[in-house]
Amino acid sequence: MNRIEGRVKVTGLATYAAEYPVEGLVHAFPVQSQIAKGRIRQVDAAQALAMPGVLAVLSSEDPPELAAAASGELALFQSREVAYRGQLVAAVVADTLDNARAAAAAVRVGYDPDDHDVSLRADHPGLYKPDTVNPGLPTDTEKGDVEAGLAAAATVVEVTYATPVLHNNPMEPHAAIACWDDEGRLLVYDTAQGTTWSRDILARVLGLPADRVRVVSRHVGGGFGSKGTPRPQAVLAALAARAVGRPVKAVLTRQQMFDVTGYRTPTIQRLRLGADAEGRLTALEHVAYEQSSTLEEFAEQTATPTRIMYATPALRTAHRLVRLDVATPSWMRAPGEAPGMYALESAMDELAYAAGMDPIELRVVNEPDTEPHSGLPYSSRDLVGCLREGARRFEWERRDPAPGVRRDGEWLVGTGVAASTYPARRRPSRARAVRREDGDYLVQVAAADIGTGARTALTTIAAGALGVDPDQVHVELGDSDLPAAPVAGGSMGTASWGSAVVRACEELKSDGREGVADTTEEIEGDAQFARHAFGAQFAEVRVSSVTGEVRVSRLLGVFAAGHIIDPQLARSQFIGGMTMGMGMALMEETLTDEEFGGFLRRDLAQYHVPACADVRDVEAVWLDERDVELNPMGSKGIGEIGIVGTAAAIGNAVFHATGHRLRELPITPAKIL
Ligand code: MOS
Repeated sequence: MNRIEGRVKVTGLATYAAEYPVEGLVHAFPVQSQIAKGRIRQVDAAQALAMPGVLAVLSSEDPPELAAAASGELALFQSREVAYRGQLVAAVVADTLDNARAAAAAVRVGYDPDDHDVSLRADHPGLYKPDTVNPGLPTDTEKGDVEAGLAAAATVVEVTYATPVLHNNPMEPHAAIACWDDEGRLLVYDTAQGTTWSRDILARVLGLPADRVRVVSRHVGGGFGSKGTPRPQAVLAALAARAVGRPVKAVLTRQQMFDVTGYRTPTIQRLRLGADAEGRLTALEHVAYEQSSTLEEFAEQTATPTRIMYATPALRTAHRLVRLDVATPSWMRAPGEAPGMYALESAMDELAYAAGMDPIELRVVNEPDTEPHSGLPYSSRDLVGCLREGARRFEWERRDPAPGVRRDGEWLVGTGVAASTYPARRRPSRARAVRREDGDYLVQVAAADIGTGARTALTTIAAGALGVDPDQVHVELGDSDLPAAPVAGGSMGTASWGSAVVRACEELKSDGREGVADTTEEIEGDAQFARHAFGAQFAEVRVSSVTGEVRVSRLLGVFAAGHIIDPQLARSQFIGGMTMGMGMALMEETLTDEEFGGFLRRDLAQYHVPACADVRDVEAVWLDERDVELNPMGSKGIGEIGIVGTAAAIGNAVFHATGHRLRELPITPAKIL
């Protein structure tokens, strides 16, 4: 199917959060902290309040009322403590955006600064062991004796990798319009990956019952995790609207998005691998060091993919966190798996070279029978099939493993491979299906289409369950007044909502008129399996010996991700993820300002993502995988696996091309030369 909303999107008729026509709308514009740590002495708004069109200035001088439960990044203007440079410390509400912005620049904030610390180091004295890592996984795991395994190994690799701060950068900025009605009900048009959860969190922060808040988010221009929970713009719009008694729009600038909508933590990752003479792992250890803010603890699950990938008698994974004077990191497409698998799959390549083995064969001989850390059987796992099919398509058998020997004029040429994986989860969801008067079907679920094509995929799922033509099915989503549903996140949207849609459609078929479903009990009854999608990525790079520039001349992903519901949408998800992985490998990096705090490179002129000209030849294919244990569709999530492994495949290809192993992303010309 073509995307149902494709036409309204390309003709500009799709309404995004900032675009709703609301009568009497005024604008809020934030003021950001100029210091990285300290106290606000005073907020002088006199000059700003005298400027044209200004209606109010919000700040900690007169903190707007929030619930006691409000904390962290959403507790706007409640405290005089500054947690990081760029934090919102005040906001101006005015009749136009320009007037609000001009007045925001005239708000004078006085500070008592303290010394700050914004630098992640593996020997930082503030490192500690968090109770769990996102999304509630054990912080550390240990099986067998790693030291003994390393001592007994024929080949040992001990390496450290580093990945930088990365920013999600959805095309649509974070924006919200908030409207209070006469009964004190709040309507927020927000850009959200899930309206149910956004409603619940906003209600909690504002101290309202959930049924007095409605969040509408019909079209979302990308999120990649940064819209998984409400961001400050939604709270700001609500507080400002309450203060001035009019609807308020708050749209963050691209630069403000870098500061207050989350980012991928930088990581330092230490790996130790031992293998016997046949290449079988004798020990595998993965320790990740990462950061969070002083406001909130977010501990990324960086080392968790290492728990599920390869057979080994000794396996240890650990995470250590330090709370710095920085903004709070959060989800960014495949949090954990993306940086973690960059390190593991680069280290596996290093082990293959050290052991004199082909990197595909090394992975094949370490294929586990059951999930290594838990011992659970896999619901399905076809990593080997992905590696074999990719090798066939990439003509891997013709590859000379010798590094640094293929030259085409100034260009050094190399190829690399890496594995991909991502969990295949689902969460409870509700859905409703009704037969309309005209004979068509209406399907309602508070799902979010963040650009993935969820509307289209759910239409296909519902039509299949009803046994009718997709033209007869109309899916409504993106509104918290619809049946409650989990976020578009963790690659579990379609599996979660789709399960509920199938059950609602089944009930409609037996009832004749209406079906409502809640999958909570069904999911609680799911049998115990290790549930993951797998894949293999192959990269060919050309590295200029003159400029150090790396060009990815070919990128191939082969995935085993359950039943593919819509091939066209799936291909877009896979190659979109792989393209983002290319950015992670070669370009994307937000620098932290050590001297003043905050981030440098806060726009798309300096934070580089791949452009069309960077993506020469990218293709994704998939194996025909049947997995009956997951959900009624037999599907696995596909939103994130595409970014997992790409950076390692490219880094491994750069080694094959140049003979130099670079262990810090991104692989920029300066590092090559
Ligand atoms: Mo995704 S980072 O789980 O929104």
